Order: sequence, then C-alpha cells, then structure tokens
Amino acid sequence: MDFLELAKLRYSSRKYQSRQVEEEKLNYILEAGRIAPSANNAQPWVFIVVKDENRDALRQCYHREWFNSAPVYIIICGNHLQAWKRSSDGKDHTDIDVAIATDHMTLAAAQQGLATCWVCNFDKEKTSKLLNLPEYIEPIAILPLGYPVDKPDVNRHEKKRKKISDIVFYERYK
Ligand SMILES: Cc1cc2nc3c(=O)[nH]c(=O)nc-3n(C[C@H](O)[C@H](O)[C@H](O)COP(=O)(O)O)c2cc1C
Repeated sequence: MDFLELAKLRYSSRKYQSRQVEEEKLNYILEAGRIAPSANNAQPWVFIVVKDENRDALRQCYHREWFNSAPVYIIICGNHLQAWKRSSDGKDHTDIDVAIATDHMTLAAAQQGLATCWVCNFDKEKTSKLLNLPEYIEPIAILPLGYPVDKPDVNRHEKKRKKISDIVFYERYK
C-alpha cells in the first residue's frame, strides 16, 4: 500500500466491534511502536496492553460510551528519566518520542485492517494509579484498538485539513 493511501486510511474510530484482536496483529502493532525513532535513541516509552482484568477499571479513566466498545487498549507511557534532554535548554523530548511511537502504532493498526483513536483527555492520576506507574513514568496516550464498525472517509482531508499553502513556507515564515 502506498504511504499516503495508508495515512488516509487511518482515522479516529469511535465505535468498535466486539470481535477480539488476534495476538499476531496486536504483536505487529507493538513491534511498529518498538522500532520507532527517538531522540538519541533513548526509547523512553513503555506500552501497557489492557484487555483483561483491568479493562473495566481503565474505562473509568475516560468517560465516553464509545470508548467502552474497544476490546483492547494500549496505553503509551513516557519515561521522563530515560528521555533525552537538549543540552542548550533542557527540553525534555518524552512527548515527541512517545508521539512518534504512537503514530507508528496507529498506522500499523490501519494497515492490519484495525482501527484506533488517540485519547489524551483521560484522567491521568486515576490511570497512573491503576497501571501502578511510578511518578517518572507518565501515561501520555491511550489507544483503543479493535475492528471498526464504520469506515473511514479517505477524502475527508480535503475539507478537514489546512491547505498546503497555509502551512508550507520556503526559506522563511510568511
Ligand atoms: C494528541 C492527540 C490527542 C487526542 N485526544 C483525543 C481524545 O482525548 N478524545 C478523542 O475523541 N479524540 C482525540 N484525538 C483525536 C483527534 O480529535 C483526531 O485525530 C482529529 O480530529 C483528526 O481526525 P482523524 O484522526 O479522524 O483524522 C486526539 C488526537 C491527537 C493527535
């Protein structure tokens, strides 16, 4: 599949079938996260898969009816102790690295015929407690994962994204 085709196929799915996700597909998606690039190759992440005894409790961390329909959740967490910090100003690159790994996973899922949705608007304290995270490991995104009920509109970017001319500049800004 052409890269832009795959990128357009990925969308935020907010309704999942109850059908289970095959172990091989889940492992494929986790592998896509594992091989992601990171600043100074620090790989400051952990991926926590929730699909059994913690599923109901995790659903209490983000109160949306649709969220409950996912059979699997991957919580992508950033380790602030491991992340690279820029020497000139100390900038912590955890969020950037975690975002790349998460994006790899959402695209891999789409390629496998599965769907995801980035969720960041969850209760962070509740989630950290549930997952037994030490304070230096931050839950950054939750990806519900499953077979979607709906289908993506692969032409939606025409209307739902800014135009190239609004965001690309050559040599300098404006
Ligand atoms: C960092 C980030 C956080 C997001 N958090 C949420 C969220 O908490 N809840 C939600 O329903 N969607 C969330 N989204 C999904 C966006 O709303 C969605 O990606 C955007 O509207 C574009 O739609 P698309 O993913 O279908 O192309 C988030 C997306 C990103 C990238």
